[in-house]
Amino acid sequence: MVTGFCSITPPCRATSFNRNLEYSAYFLHLPCQTNMSTASKDNSTTADPYFQSLFADRIGGANYGKDTEIYKFEKIKRAKRKALTDHPDRVLLDFGIGENDAMADKSIRDLMAQEVNQPENRGYADNGVAEFKQAAARFMKRRFGVQLDADTQINHCIGSKPAYAMLPACFINPGDMTLITVPGYPVAATHTRYYGGEVFNLPLQAENNFMPDLDAVPDDIYRRTKILVLNYPNSPTGKTATADFYAKVVALAKEKQFVVVQDAAHIMLTFDGEPLSFLQTPGAIDVGVEVHSMSKGYDMIGWRMGFVCGHPKIVSAFADVKDNSDSGQFIATQKAAAAALDDDSIPDQVNKKYRRRLEKLVNTLNECGFECEVPGGTYFLYAKSPVGSQAGKSFAAAEDATRYLIEEFGIVTVPWDNAGAFLRFSVTYVAPTEADEDALMEETKRRLGDAGLTW
Ligand SMILES: Cc1ncc(COP(=O)(O)O)c(C=O)c1O
Repeated sequence: MVTGFCSITPPCRATSFNRNLEYSAYFLHLPCQTNMSTASKDNSTTADPYFQSLFADRIGGANYGKDTEIYKFEKIKRAKRKALTDHPDRVLLDFGIGENDAMADKSIRDLMAQEVNQPENRGYADNGVAEFKQAAARFMKRRFGVQLDADTQINHCIGSKPAYAMLPACFINPGDMTLITVPGYPVAATHTRYYGGEVFNLPLQAENNFMPDLDAVPDDIYRRTKILVLNYPNSPTGKTATADFYAKVVALAKEKQFVVVQDAAHIMLTFDGEPLSFLQTPGAIDVGVEVHSMSKGYDMIGWRMGFVCGHPKIVSAFADVKDNSDSGQFIATQKAAAAALDDDSIPDQVNKKYRRRLEKLVNTLNECGFECEVPGGTYFLYAKSPVGSQAGKSFAAAEDATRYLIEEFGIVTVPWDNAGAFLRFSVTYVAPTEADEDALMEETKRRLGDAGLTW
């Protein structure tokens, strides 16, 4: 297997890596993967297809598929390949995967198996079945004390990712602005740009405790702002929001007249107290919606279920756009997801497991020179990147540290360089027992000791 670039036609498609990567918006112009034997039989010419000039500007126009920039996750993939080639007997310690390692709870899989065979579940689901909406309403009431009308204030989505693609369609005209935190989940920003809107980044910096500085946004930006996208617990920083912060957001939204979209994908993975919903904030329902996901907290990543909830008018606009985009998630899946939402023991178990793993990882990293603590939420540990090694290596960016750790020591992390240099360690590694987790930590400690990192 060799890796090539997209200088030949046909233009490479952005599908091969997206499946496993939470930040697939970075992958619009992926470098091609070509298999040597297939490539040699490929009769394609270097001429562009007649439709090359027809691609829309939003995906690169006539240059679509010709970008040779190598994106972050592709670099990691290449470094992993090199590490495996150079050290075939060394096991990779993979802290780079941003997906739950377990299947959904057995009770949910069993229920799904039954629902698949029910004839009434076979058809288009459109904007969703009442069973799921009602379970979501019960969940919001039970877990957060938030009372919502299942009919008008909740709508399912096929995983939360498409909701971030659709919500900008509800608000953004050319020239309008979306405010979004970086580092972060970029789908709403990408779609804002697709609609001719602009994006204003709010950096999450250590010196500001990884909270956005909303007072630093210029007034002329606020005048054009239609959407503020927040994400708490925050990926990748692990920070959780406070009630005071949310209260300030509500007041600001009313004053500056924008809507708030709060991404609660990791909410059931809250470790520093009870999970906090934005909608618990007095007045929050007047200014926005919260988007929930079954992926992380319920081990249901591949099931593709989530819901948008909050102000009925925004939920209705979302439902209208969604109705014109998809025909709803399979009803059997919605019913299984409803049962999951009704069973608090599921997210509580998932929470317990990832908290335990984070505690072990924090202890291990701190013994190796990192200075980190268990995050407020998410299954990510966001740790300050080393600047070099005792052996004289020096890293200009987190990306260099990542490459060094993968290639020399078989330790995989994800670098973040857009608001300081940080490494993201995910605790979603595969380790069937606690003893396996401990063994993995021992090996991590041994290898990091050898790496001799400096800060
Ligand atoms: C912060 C954040 N929001 C939203 C999502 C989308 O999750 P899903 O589409 O599986 O609900 C992810 C997935 O990685 C995420 O990390």
